[in-house]
Amino acid sequence: MSAYLDNAATSFPKPDSVYETVVRVMKEVGANPGRGGHQRAIAAGRLVYETRSALAELFGIDDAARIAFTSNATEAINLALFGVLTAGDRVVTSTMEHNAVVRPLHVLQEQGVEVVKVPADCFGVVDPEKIREACTPHTRMVVLSHCSNVTGSLQPIEEIGTWCRRSGILFLVDAAQSAGLFPLHVEPFGIDLLAVPGHKGLYGPQGTGFLYVRPGLELKPLVYGGTGSNSHSESQPTEMPEHLESGTLNTAGIAGLKAGVDFVREIGLDAIRAHERQLLDRLIEGLRQVPDAVVYGPLDGRLHGGALSFNLDGRDPSEIGFRLDHEFGISCRVGLHCAPDAHRSIGTFPRGTVRVSPGYFNTLADIDLLLNAIDTIRSEKTR
Ligand code: ALA
Repeated sequence: MSAYLDNAATSFPKPDSVYETVVRVMKEVGANPGRGGHQRAIAAGRLVYETRSALAELFGIDDAARIAFTSNATEAINLALFGVLTAGDRVVTSTMEHNAVVRPLHVLQEQGVEVVKVPADCFGVVDPEKIREACTPHTRMVVLSHCSNVTGSLQPIEEIGTWCRRSGILFLVDAAQSAGLFPLHVEPFGIDLLAVPGHKGLYGPQGTGFLYVRPGLELKPLVYGGTGSNSHSESQPTEMPEHLESGTLNTAGIAGLKAGVDFVREIGLDAIRAHERQLLDRLIEGLRQVPDAVVYGPLDGRLHGGALSFNLDGRDPSEIGFRLDHEFGISCRVGLHCAPDAHRSIGTFPRGTVRVSPGYFNTLADIDLLLNAIDTIRSEKTR
């Protein structure tokens, strides 16, 4: 027996339709979307258009052209931050952010952007009041992850986003751990910029993702080049999405992402969430019975996204992860999960945690396999 419990890093397996689509598009379509007027290029362009439209529907986006494809959520976040912020701007964020936010902000800070980090509580939750207090009249943007990749803590983004919108502050949401698991509509949440990976909760292939940019907001591109449009001009087109999409797209991956989105819509967000909550509840309950286990983040499944972190008292998380993998066939992630500030917030820096992140294809048997393995590892120490 084995269990893949690292869906926060990337979902696995994918629905069969995703694998089939990627192979079919590579073998049967093969052309470059938007480059050339031949039938294959038009077919490739249609696939990209269909994925954009499916994503727009899922995230309540009125104009699908405001979606720019990227290779992952990190690229989308970089595009949003470097595309908007300049020296003298002020940005408010939290101590629960992934390095996808922390590192570009660090570079921008060196270029003269003021970065304010609002501390989360010991459960990894950010108080909206503290965000409001941190925002001055000169604050340009608030950046928050919807759901922590370390603790699974959900942030109250709707409350924060609607306040930002009223206050004229841009709101960038990193939905790396929440897209495909929670309903996320850009307008009611006051979201101006939404960064989404294709390969996690949307069950698409790696190398896919997108940034949504609210109408009226113009970003500086990260990459300039061929777009298949306005080829006579040396200037980058100003129209979306070409403005932010230079170079050949990952057509097969983007078509595979559509198959992933179709899967999510067919099962339904509520059913996916209900299944993952059932797994998480069993996991939390099981870990609470383990005398040496310390579980981090909210213990209430309602306040939780897909990831859960724990440690066994006095044991190195890397040792636990290695043994789970090599002796029990269980894949989970250990260490800092590219989010050192989050570990500082919950008191697990620098050792980190063992992180378990079930997905839709996991079963209660996978969770029981993990709990039994933990029990074996734990009891060996105390013998
Ligand atoms: N950000 C991903 C993770 O948390 C890769 O594992």
